[in-house]
Amino acid sequence: RPPRKRAAALLAWYDANRRDLPWRARPGEAPDPYAVWLSEIMLQQTTVATVKGYFARFLARWPTVEALAAAPPDEILAAWAGLGYYARARNLHACAVRVAQAHGGRFPQSEEELRALPGLGPYTAAAVAAIAFDAPCAAVDGNVERVMTRLHAIAAPLRAAKPLIRARTEEMLPPARAGDYAQALMDLGATICTPRAPACGACPLAPDCAAFAAGAAEAYPVKAKK
Ligand code: ADE
Repeated sequence: RPPRKRAAALLAWYDANRRDLPWRARPGEAPDPYAVWLSEIMLQQTTVATVKGYFARFLARWPTVEALAAAPPDEILAAWAGLGYYARARNLHACAVRVAQAHGGRFPQSEEELRALPGLGPYTAAAVAAIAFDAPCAAVDGNVERVMTRLHAIAAPLRAAKPLIRARTEEMLPPARAGDYAQALMDLGATICTPRAPACGACPLAPDCAAFAAGAAEAYPVKAKK
């Protein structure tokens, strides 16, 4: 099937199977960019299960980016305790201050402007642009790399394969619903296209998947030889 049809199949699967996560807007409702950003920072190196509690506590205590910007950095660090990678917490505050002061309390909508904020790398900027603003951006994380290397049987080691993975992720971008597309790929990678024993029988992309056709889904992504 052509990329458009694949994306449509993926989105239909997502509509039926989407995980109900606290930072996700309900279908038909607009997401809160602050909540999207906060969740993406927390999820950078921490599992969904762990992030849920922290996310709820942060939002209850600091419901807006202005509130977070006004918080003493020590209090943010204390609330972050247990999540690890404390540079993230320092950047969190720096980013909140920047958005409050330089952007009038509203997150900028373009990937480029988001990328310029403290703590937002290429993945996070694309994820926030897509999920919060439905900007047509491809957010490529480890899950997406696994899905795409399998779908296209990309045999190059991951480091060399990155540009191709990005191109393959972009060519499937649907004309609307970029945020759902990003999160559908994440959910697919987390629940179906798993590193071990992927559930190919339940995968909406199985008819298109070169690795599945070869009976070799687990062989991807290919690791670099040491
Ligand atoms: N991992 C990173 N961002 C995520 C999201 N928005 N939903 C689920 N898992 C994620």
